[in-house]
Amino acid sequence: MNHFNIAVDGPAGAGKSTIAKLVAKELGFVYVDTGAMYRAMALYFLRKGVDPKEAEEIGRSCPEVDVTIRYQEGVQQVLLNGEDVSGLIRTEEVGNMASAVSGYMPVREKLVELQKAKENVIMDGRDIGTCVLPDAPAKIYLTASVEVRAVRRYKELLEKGMEADLKEIEKDIEDRDYRDMHREHSPLKQAEDAVLLDTSSMTLDQVVEEILKIVREKGYKAAGGCA
Ligand code: DC
Repeated sequence: MNHFNIAVDGPAGAGKSTIAKLVAKELGFVYVDTGAMYRAMALYFLRKGVDPKEAEEIGRSCPEVDVTIRYQEGVQQVLLNGEDVSGLIRTEEVGNMASAVSGYMPVREKLVELQKAKENVIMDGRDIGTCVLPDAPAKIYLTASVEVRAVRRYKELLEKGMEADLKEIEKDIEDRDYRDMHREHSPLKQAEDAVLLDTSSMTLDQVVEEILKIVREKGYKAAGGCA
């Protein structure tokens, strides 16, 4: 049976993971957060004290790193050399390192291999519609203004009890957008057949509804449905 996959790409803080999780729940799909895999690799390099500019050292270290994902009660967990690091990878420091090291081919090759979809998935990242799942029938490019994304990220960090500085987050987001969009390999860009959704002035429910509508328009019918 063919899979029906949904690819969600977009810049940092666009709400991809929150929205993709809700859509996955609604459709009974598996949610795959590819950013978490890049973050796990980044944590490895941070712990090892590798400078993100050291391309050769990063390439050499890749075979030492084992990233796996598993699901517990439907929630994705990321293991780094067997250690569950799901809770440790959500900092800005790890996010920035992930953005830096994701530009290197040995890192991307290792993780893209892990991202081969075996069932109906909704997968989010930067290169899902363009490189990882180019044949996905539904592709969404989710974005929002830098200001809106920075405020969302700021609130998210505060809710998790972490310290945050709004101006710093805004600057981080701008730098990350630039790096992710201008790197040589698999840069972030809207796939030609992706639907653009600017969520700057949309509620979460509106975005989820809009994606479900797009998925239906692209031909997805729930099992047992009579649409
Ligand atoms: O979505 P995120 O913030 O967790 O991603 C962290 C970084 O990982 C992002 O800035 C770029 C990189 N990334 C990537 O290059 N390709 C992906 N498919 C997902 C993330």
